[in-house]
Amino acid sequence: MQTSPEVSAHVPNANTPVLTIDNLSVEFPAYRSTVKALNGVSLHVNPGEIVGVIGESGSGKSVTAMLSLRLLPERSYHVSGGSLHILGRDMLAAKEKDLLKVRGRDVAMIFQEPMTALNPTRRIGRQMLDVIIHHQHLSKADARAKAIGLLRDMHIADPEQVLENYPFELSGGMRQRVMIALAFSCDPQLLIADEPTTALDVTVQRQVLLLLREKARERGTAILLITHDMALVSQFCDRVYVMYTGAVVEQGATGEVMVDPRHPYTRGLLSGLPEQVQPGEDLMTIPGQVPNLAALPAGCTFRDRCQYAMPVCSKRPPLQAIDAEGLRKSACWLTVQEQSS
Ligand SMILES: Nc1ncnc2c1ncn2[C@@H]1O[C@H](COP(=O)(O)OP(=O)(O)OP(=O)(O)O)[C@@H](O)[C@H]1O
Ligand SMILES: [Mg+2]
Repeated sequence: MQTSPEVSAHVPNANTPVLTIDNLSVEFPAYRSTVKALNGVSLHVNPGEIVGVIGESGSGKSVTAMLSLRLLPERSYHVSGGSLHILGRDMLAAKEKDLLKVRGRDVAMIFQEPMTALNPTRRIGRQMLDVIIHHQHLSKADARAKAIGLLRDMHIADPEQVLENYPFELSGGMRQRVMIALAFSCDPQLLIADEPTTALDVTVQRQVLLLLREKARERGTAILLITHDMALVSQFCDRVYVMYTGAVVEQGATGEVMVDPRHPYTRGLLSGLPEQVQPGEDLMTIPGQVPNLAALPAGCTFRDRCQYAMPVCSKRPPLQAIDAEGLRKSACWLTVQEQSS
């Protein structure tokens, strides 16, 4: 029997990635210049996996996340190459009505500051009920019961009270728990979390992320966790992609990347981890600055900051597989040399 693409796009399949980005390039045209924000990004997230994306500010993490749900202002950007699929659906070609089905149902997103995602003038209960009723067509009473259950699931002790609160009446950690409850309310297959805990203090950050992971594991939800914090990646992610100037420069199982980083940029990020830094030493140890995305140098974009730079680095290094399965990769001429020797 043949199924239409519309139908097959929503059949969960253990072997099909929930998110597949292939060689994606995105530009922001500006006055007399063009910001090349993504330059051939490829990544995927399998069902139930927790995948980290890490990189310094401006490396293209949020553009990748926002474009996955087509949340960038439509006329502000230009896709100059590549593709992006969610559950088999071509997101770059999808019409607005299909995007609305994907957002909040197949995929939910949580942002750094829940205050911007929650409406400050409406009680938490009204906002949760709206979302639950919209996506699941439940009665008001059933939706309220579901909201209470979801909040309790997030270890919120007094869910009835929280439903009556306005967002500003809750602590930052509590607001983020509400956001996670909302994100899970429609049983998404993928949750995209862009710096979800950066605004919280370290203890609350850890509690919220542990909760996020526990709930994702229980429900089989995949997570794409965007962060600039290597320590978070090492604690929470199964696999990691390291991004620099809009491209993946290293990828692999988190443990392997942490123990044996191959790209000098990844080594730099790792040397900023607290346990590797002497007391009083600055955390950010990569010297130099990220190049201007409107005037990227040809070749390896990290070479001006790299202590191992060689003449061949004036050519762009391929993302070279290190293992047989091609899960572990690094885009550095040193890796190419190691692999061929
Ligand atoms: N709407 C836009 N218009 C023009 N340029 C943009 C737009 N959105 C992002 N950019 C540019 O794209 C590049 C990548 O930005 P992005 O927000 O993805 O970085 P990031 O890795 O998320 O950084 P951070 O860690 O600071 O959040 C930046 O140079 C940014 O200025
Ligand atoms: Mg960002």
